[in-house]
Amino acid sequence: MRCVVTGGAGFIGSNLALHLENEGEEVVIVDNFKTGKEENLAGFRGEIIKADVSGKFDVNGKVDVIFHQAAITDPRHENDDETIRDNLSGFRNILSMAMDKKAKLIYASSASMYGNGPAPQKEDQEKELFTAYSKSKLMIDNLAKEYLRKIHIVGLRYFNVFGPREKYKGRAASMIYHLARQMKSGKNPRIFKMGEQRRDHIYVKDCVTANIKAINGEPGVYNVGTGICTSFNDLIAMINKSLGTNLKPEYIDNPYEKTYQKNTQADTSKTEKHLGFKARYGLQKAINEYVVEL
Ligand SMILES: NC(=O)c1ccc[n+]([C@@H]2O[C@H](COP(=O)([O-])OP(=O)(O)OC[C@H]3O[C@@H](n4cnc5c(N)ncnc54)[C@H](O)[C@@H]3O)[C@@H](O)[C@H]2O)c1
Repeated sequence: MRCVVTGGAGFIGSNLALHLENEGEEVVIVDNFKTGKEENLAGFRGEIIKADVSGKFDVNGKVDVIFHQAAITDPRHENDDETIRDNLSGFRNILSMAMDKKAKLIYASSASMYGNGPAPQKEDQEKELFTAYSKSKLMIDNLAKEYLRKIHIVGLRYFNVFGPREKYKGRAASMIYHLARQMKSGKNPRIFKMGEQRRDHIYVKDCVTANIKAINGEPGVYNVGTGICTSFNDLIAMINKSLGTNLKPEYIDNPYEKTYQKNTQADTSKTEKHLGFKARYGLQKAINEYVVEL
């Protein structure tokens, strides 16, 4: 299989590209290296095309599957127009490449579009768009739905992904990354008052599996989460357990109170039924594996 991974130098894209290559697939990465870094690709042997997918670029030869991960991913990116324009035009270009090359298209969407809607969140429930980033992802999902009968297209609405190779995202890296880094350096972890906000945290290795399952799954747009939500207070207890520490949270005011997601939790029934995907990593197990290498 010859695959293209856009955003392959980024967090999820690099994990996916390296996994595919280890499985013997040929992988071509397209990335503009804005948030992605070559350091994420140590050991990668395939072709790397440095290009912006929102503009003109070419991938020569046949392509069987495109995994489109490239996007402006920081929800607090300073330029809303740029987030919407680049994410949408990138997707349009990838869509036309998939049509031209008769390739399957698996792309990254986001659970941020559920805002503070009722949990567990179902794919078709009403959306609450707090940021230009989530707007761009919903626009992409709506566009993708128009192509469901024309090509094999699967959108994956990731919940909160964490794991190796996320550090270059800086402030947009996961809470698990930031909390574990603070705690490993002996500091009290800082969280927004009173730590009872809940998130569905999914390990990046499970996300990679979801992408692979999507190759032969039923076209559509699906949640990619564990179905379990964990409060930040409980998360800190889990990180303490894995580090053998007993650091207490320090509660700080939340400057984003109005637009902060209070509870994310995936309803995973459609994903299980139509993609045959269910997350396999329990949160404590994934944290144990991950925090060692931070
Ligand atoms: N990490 C999460 O928790 C999460 C949650 C929901 C959705 N997602 C989505 O998953 C995808 C991957 O996210 P990530 O966490 O790996 O972020 P990331 O920022 O690490 O990766 C994005 C990659 O895309 C590249 N890129 C950005 N715009 C580009 C463009 N126009 N052309 C070419 N390359 C471009 C960046 O350089 C980077 O390597 C994104 O689409 C993101 O919106 C991630």
